[in-house]
Amino acid sequence: MEIINQQYQIQGLALTELAKQYGTPLYVYDGQKILDQVKVLQNAFTDVKLRIKYATKALSNINILKLVKKAGTGVDAVSIEEVKLCMHAGFEPHEIMYTPNSVSFEEFQEAVELGVMINIDNIPMLEHFGTYYGNKVPVCIRLNPHILAGGNAKISVGHIDSKFGISILQLKHVLKVVEAYDLQVVGLHVHTGSDILDAEVFLKGAEILFDAAREFKGLKFLDFGGGFKVAYEPGDIATDIKEVGNKVSKAFKDFCKEYGSELEIWFEPGKFLVSESGYLLVKVNVIKATPASTFVGVDSGLNHLIRPMMYDAYHGVVNISKLDGPERVYTVVGYICETDTIAADRKLKEVQEGDILAIKNAGAYGFSMSSNYNSRLRPAEVLLLDGKAHLIRERETFDDILKHQIDIGL
Ligand code: LLP
Repeated sequence: MEIINQQYQIQGLALTELAKQYGTPLYVYDGQKILDQVKVLQNAFTDVKLRIKYATKALSNINILKLVKKAGTGVDAVSIEEVKLCMHAGFEPHEIMYTPNSVSFEEFQEAVELGVMINIDNIPMLEHFGTYYGNKVPVCIRLNPHILAGGNAKISVGHIDSKFGISILQLKHVLKVVEAYDLQVVGLHVHTGSDILDAEVFLKGAEILFDAAREFKGLKFLDFGGGFKVAYEPGDIATDIKEVGNKVSKAFKDFCKEYGSELEIWFEPGKFLVSESGYLLVKVNVIKATPASTFVGVDSGLNHLIRPMMYDAYHGVVNISKLDGPERVYTVVGYICETDTIAADRKLKEVQEGDILAIKNAGAYGFSMSSNYNSRLRPAEVLLLDGKAHLIRERETFDDILKHQIDIGL
């Protein structure tokens, strides 16, 4: 988003015009930014067989999936529905990594029938899988490396008290199961958490994976999960992808030499690819001064962007209707019937009713975590590509609220 001709524009398109054309609240995605991020990641890893498996859950519109596919990525799916969505978007089964947790064996069977790569994260399921498929279906094993890292407790998933993965301390047990059922283990996986800043955390994860990998014959890939940190606040430091790329590529090459085969290295970025591409455009309904704050009430809320309330996440806000004039301090709130703060105590160009605000970093875990809470409609989504705006999801209507309800005639 840049200021050109006194307008906030992306790819030459004025955001206030998009708000007028499509209405608010509106999710807008800069497709070029997503393509650029894929390139940055591809270029950061040298001399290794990198496979990017975009984390579908971050933003799952089929057009976004098609866009990243065109850029050469595969996908990571965490539910059978995501698997089907990715296939619908054109991914071949072998490009899809299926990493569920706490799902039934029937769901695994469905995934096997669809032909995707299965990633198992608990020993009972591994045994079940062995009983049923033996060595006929290749499998990946998700390990919990016991590394405490990530933006906050809800998104730190690689520590000792996390439900995810099989404890690295249970490796011996895993090996016994693998041998007993003659499992065809082709990959090992770790995902430590989201918002991980430090290259050292990825290196530590790598060392743990290498140690485990030495115990397996016939591996084809090691999957390091996602979690690269992107900048949300001004002055925020993001993961230095070049540094991670350099250090991990080197360590990986050394390991492959020792292992005696050139394995693939997989990453599953969500935020890194799509967070910064997205803006949630909202309209100011009311400005309400109280003894402690001046609230700006907008036509959206935690039903559309839950990150500020759920993770205490910072999202930048810009009054895109005002380029000049003084700034004042506001707290931007949504219209939901409980505390629904989008941004507290922020300086914005003086706000008036009807102004459009752009909420930044809304690409990842924005729409995909949205709901109909308060029986509100979910927003439309627009993808900007080659200087053109494409409507990729229509705004919901009242019919959608009623769609699955059954009137039993009371
Ligand atoms: N791989 C696996 C197995 C994951 O569980 C996740 C995220 C990712 C990859 C992608 O992580 P990323 O690169 O996006 O950090 N809703 C939260 C984030 C939850 C992440 C869950 N797993 C948020 O809005 O911060």
